[in-house]
Amino acid sequence: MAETMRGLKRDRMVCEFTEADLGKKLCLMGWCQRQRDLGKLVFINLRDRSGLLQLVIDEDSPPGLLEKAQKVRSEYVLACEGVLRKRQDPNPEMKTGEYELHVSELRILSEAKTPPFYIEDGDVANDALRLEYRYLDLRRPKMQKNIIKRHEVSSFTRQWFSEHGFLDIETPTFIKSTPEGARDYLVPSRIFPGEFFALPQSPQIYKQLLMLAGFDRYMQLARCYRDEDLRADRQPEFTQLDLEMTFVTEEDIFRVMESYLSALFKEVLDVDLPLPFPRMTWEEAMCRYGSDKPDRRYGMEIHLINDLVLDSGFKVFSSAVEEGGIVGTLVVKGGSELKRRRLDELTRFAQDHGAKGLVWMSYEDPLRGSATKFLDEAFMASLAERCGGERGDLFLFIADEKYKALEILGRLRVELAQSLALIPDTWEPLWVVQFPMFEQDEETGRLAAAHHPFTMPLEDDYNNPDCEPLNWRANAYDLVLNGYELGSGSLRIYNSDLQAKIFELIGFTREEAKERFGFLLKAFDYGVPPHAGIALGLDRLVMLICACDNIREVIAFPKVQNSSCLMANCPSPVDEKQLQDLGIEIIKRPHDAQ
Ligand code: AMO
Ligand code: AMP
Repeated sequence: MAETMRGLKRDRMVCEFTEADLGKKLCLMGWCQRQRDLGKLVFINLRDRSGLLQLVIDEDSPPGLLEKAQKVRSEYVLACEGVLRKRQDPNPEMKTGEYELHVSELRILSEAKTPPFYIEDGDVANDALRLEYRYLDLRRPKMQKNIIKRHEVSSFTRQWFSEHGFLDIETPTFIKSTPEGARDYLVPSRIFPGEFFALPQSPQIYKQLLMLAGFDRYMQLARCYRDEDLRADRQPEFTQLDLEMTFVTEEDIFRVMESYLSALFKEVLDVDLPLPFPRMTWEEAMCRYGSDKPDRRYGMEIHLINDLVLDSGFKVFSSAVEEGGIVGTLVVKGGSELKRRRLDELTRFAQDHGAKGLVWMSYEDPLRGSATKFLDEAFMASLAERCGGERGDLFLFIADEKYKALEILGRLRVELAQSLALIPDTWEPLWVVQFPMFEQDEETGRLAAAHHPFTMPLEDDYNNPDCEPLNWRANAYDLVLNGYELGSGSLRIYNSDLQAKIFELIGFTREEAKERFGFLLKAFDYGVPPHAGIALGLDRLVMLICACDNIREVIAFPKVQNSSCLMANCPSPVDEKQLQDLGIEIIKRPHDAQ
């Protein structure tokens, strides 16, 4: 039978005591991490979010307590009173390892089944089990640390922005759909059957309207919802540190973000970020790193070698160049030691990412490689000189259409750096600027906004009649940290003609644009201040701060790959009555899961 707390009042967390409390009676409550029964002596490690403390129950404890302590199992919830004393055999592994509580009162408040996995760090159960029993998983010290760190980041953030003149303003979660590129989650309306709200992919339009409304300097930790394929750094619902400012240029946004992030990193990690953050255009990032979010903690940059390969007589290379593409190479220092099997793996890796093949050349004497017939010693010597390579290095080549080749090389670069453990434990923030304004759909040829359609194109480009819209650059910037896209933002359009033109370029007729964004265009008729903003992925930021590689590790109740929740078992069917109220009928399609 479980007992109650009656007459007991917890006076502190398990680890909240000092040397001065020795000899005092403490009242503690928590979970049993582990019980050890030595017959006439029982040790219990009592746990709460502050850590662990050893309880001792022995023959000097009041009658009956020893027997009760013998019944305690892992994860039982206990209340106890006892006197704090020094341990005879200190445990240096434990934060409180020099102390113990000699128990004079012990109550079992709640019993527990044997949990499906150990509540401790290290080799944990498979992800599915962890997520089904998330409340147990969250009891593990590592998860407690992550969630507490997340709290520190968000409370520091709110305070910092408040101190810097930003107003924290909530925006609605039932909105009219805004185009951020992913699918919307929809909310059916009962009052207007057949009509829907969308959950916001971001507060984009609302924060712009707040600038119009005169609330200069807005911030919000905003929930965002996107129905897209999940990856390690993507969840269907996530949190943005969202902000917007009026009468600013991108310099102001950069300055605010840099001072915020450097203060945050100092506070939560005691790390000094390098200031100011370096900047690079999107074009340069692509050419040097094959990525719009380059990880600059290590080198291994891409070299473009079109000029060198033209006369090589190697058709794979020369025809790529003749067709307007590129040949790029990566130099893997000391890479001639890589085994043939690994090179075959890398070739498959490149092919899986769309490469037609991968040429490798090991710069040894004599040369070894997949194109020794065409690439001779003289070619390799001039290549080595160009790229700073030396004997013993490995060269990997991709020939293809420019950005495709660069992207594949970029992926190879990351793969190699990871597998060769070339990544030091440092912080490398970077602003990537001047993103392209549009992307083109390969099949339909239609333009889409690369960031979002409220982004201001570069004046030099849209005022230049010779510059095709597809080649326009945008006043859009990403904040990259250690190879992750941490945040994105832009200067916004504040002129309704230009805004209408952008909608038109991405294929909305005037009527469609009016139907979807009429309220924004209407607002643009009433005095719009120039404004700009950015949104950081809070989950990604905390993930990096906690040195995790999946944002799930810093979200209390995340979804899995297929966007479902294994713990609550949702999404799930609803009552027929609920559907009727909404005027919704479910139609099973042949390919739907039964
Ligand atoms: P964007 O769509 O680039 O910009 O999003 C900004 C940042 O949000 C994070 N993020 C995500 N994090 C987790 N899961 C996801 N599914 C996910 N999607 C995005 C990323 C990303 O850099 N309204 C604009 C911002 C602006 O222009 O001010 C926007 O939402 O870290
Ligand atoms: P092939 O002429 O197709 O037999 O290819 C000869 C070698 O070049 C093989 O090792 C291929 O993997 C490689 N290769 C083919 N196409 C490309 C390409 N576009 N870029 C890099 N390597 C390639």
